[in-house]
Amino acid sequence: MVNYKDLGLVNTNDLFKKAIEGKYAIPAFNFNNMEQLQAIVAACVETKSPVILQVSSGARKYANQTLLRYMAQGAVEYAKELGLNIPIALHLDHGDTFELCKSCVDSGFSSVMIDGSHHSYEDNIALTKKVVEYAHAHGVSVEGELGVLAGVEDDVVAEHHTYTRPEEVVDFVTRTGVDSLAISIGTSHGANKFTPAQCTRDENGHLVPPPLRFDILEEIEKQIPGFPIVLHGASSVPQEYVETINKYGGVLKDSIGIPEEQLRKAATSAVCKINIDSDGRLAMTAAVREVFANQPGEFDARKYLGPARDELKKLYAHKTVSVLGSAGKA
Ligand code: G3H
Ligand code: 13P
Ligand code: ZN
Repeated sequence: MVNYKDLGLVNTNDLFKKAIEGKYAIPAFNFNNMEQLQAIVAACVETKSPVILQVSSGARKYANQTLLRYMAQGAVEYAKELGLNIPIALHLDHGDTFELCKSCVDSGFSSVMIDGSHHSYEDNIALTKKVVEYAHAHGVSVEGELGVLAGVEDDVVAEHHTYTRPEEVVDFVTRTGVDSLAISIGTSHGANKFTPAQCTRDENGHLVPPPLRFDILEEIEKQIPGFPIVLHGASSVPQEYVETINKYGGVLKDSIGIPEEQLRKAATSAVCKINIDSDGRLAMTAAVREVFANQPGEFDARKYLGPARDELKKLYAHKTVSVLGSAGKA
């Protein structure tokens, strides 16, 4: 049994309170390897941003749960070594069972998500409440979810959004005791969030996706004023990465994300945690492909993972400064 406090981590309660008051959002960056973790910590120290290190169940299996615990502790020490003891949380992304959430609480996570959004409403409440009781007994914060995002969440694929129903949120948060609520207002996971048919074109011929449902977000905020809201599926899918990937042999098609201005707007509301995974995947893939294409004789992994790490750091710093507004808040 390892408690997160002994690793130097923090839970998300204080982070969210400050983020709502200050009208910004905390970045939740997914990671599963050393280079991603180095880039996240270096970018957040440089821009003085608090950060949530986010691990999916797939990432936990990939990286190994014991290694992960030491990596998170290492992240705290690395930040100090770089010059600033920024607040760092370690969060389970899309936990699907009580057992997985319990295992994460027991191995040093400071926050867990229990995603019961694919269950019936009553089953979602029962499962979420059970996780909250266990996690809170250990000082760990809990994120629940209402509504379903289109796209892929680990092994679950949903074809259509089911937007969060504002009339359910008061009942859900009071009966479960969750600390934050993930909602569905038009974002989705992955690099193909919209089809071209769903988009319009601007004067330069670029595809413009339909706006997020800020009306639903406002309704939710009216129901639970000041309650921390989480936005999943918030990658913006930078087209320069897509172009680089395709230029050097990739075949990404119809890759469309959430425009950054919309995320910026969301960050000024009660949305206080914004999840970004796909943009990091794109940055890494673009950088690695470019090295392979231009230096085909290269076979030292540091020579392609190093540039990928540099690109990731740039991306994460850009997010904290220009999109989430969390820079300078550590
Ligand atoms: O919400 C999904 C995240 O992007 C994690 O993805 O399950 O492939 O690690 P993953
Ligand atoms: P993206 O696929 O848009 O990066 O979303 C990540 C996410 O929501 C992780 O939970
Ligand atoms: Zn998600």
